[in-house]
Amino acid sequence: MSLPRILSGIKPSGKLHIGNYLGALKNFVALQNSGAHECFYMVADLHSLTEKFDPKKKRQEILDLVIDYVAIGLDPEKSVLFVQSMLPEHAELTWIFDVLTPVASLERMTQYKDFVARGHSANVGLFTYPVLQAVDILLYKPAAVPVGEDQIQHLELTNDIAKKFNAAFGKTFEPVKTLLTKTPRVMSLLEPDKKMSKSLGEAHVINLSDEPEVIEKKLARAVTDTGMEKHISAGTKNLLGLLEIFGEPKQYEFYMEARGKGTIRYTDLKKNLAKIIAHHFADYRSKRKELEKQPDYIMEVIATGREKAAAVAAATLREVKEKIGLVL
Ligand code: TRP
Repeated sequence: MSLPRILSGIKPSGKLHIGNYLGALKNFVALQNSGAHECFYMVADLHSLTEKFDPKKKRQEILDLVIDYVAIGLDPEKSVLFVQSMLPEHAELTWIFDVLTPVASLERMTQYKDFVARGHSANVGLFTYPVLQAVDILLYKPAAVPVGEDQIQHLELTNDIAKKFNAAFGKTFEPVKTLLTKTPRVMSLLEPDKKMSKSLGEAHVINLSDEPEVIEKKLARAVTDTGMEKHISAGTKNLLGLLEIFGEPKQYEFYMEARGKGTIRYTDLKKNLAKIIAHHFADYRSKRKELEKQPDYIMEVIATGREKAAAVAAATLREVKEKIGLVL
């Protein structure tokens, strides 16, 4: 019997930080290694075009995300790692799903609504972004999709489109489960009331590829409280939270207790935390450096992934076109 399939994807847009790791990659690796799933992980490069981008950098961003996937522990022999734009089936099925999707249901999407509310004028790609995501998913008929909370709405739309297609053209798609990734909210180091995000600036984030000295410097500047107030500040909470995730339970307990007693020394905590995080990603950093020197291998990973993904995507698109009456 074949294992239940899962599919997910990340947009390529530069370096990954520890928030991206905890929100997605960590879970991707765990699902792969559980041996209980057949995993498809995509580089959502078409989706990334809906944001501002530099054409001179896009190719490298795509390659970098493939390298990140492998360096963090996704094994191209176990998981299908593929680049969305290499499969024309994604764009083609998007057109078909577009005609099944009411404008009103896309107008309700928070990502689009927020963008417009901030005074921007959206492109049609951003508007139809969730339809392309429904395609990414349904093309591969996965049992479940691991995502963060912000993607729930997109998964609901995916199932709406699947239902609508089934009703109009005959049973083709099964409902897809949302595998919610419980993510501790990782906050900016400098503005801990905001989510850690690259858009805030380099000093706000810890990248997976940051060298130990860089992590130490960034953490040294992270905001905390004085250590004496009754309420623990957001910045301190963030650092202690990271220690709880990456460190040993007794290290976390030690600093929590010290904070309670008013004896905490933040320079000490920050140095320790830097060491712990740097150590956690040591293998990733060295693997990444190795992979950067093997562009042929990376291209091979991409070609193999494309082939495996194409076998599934082409079959689904063919089935869809036959049901609609587009196969002559
Ligand atoms: N929209 C997702 C995000 O921003 C990325 C994505 C694109 C995705 N296609 C997907 C996630 C398909 C899961 C399945 O995180």
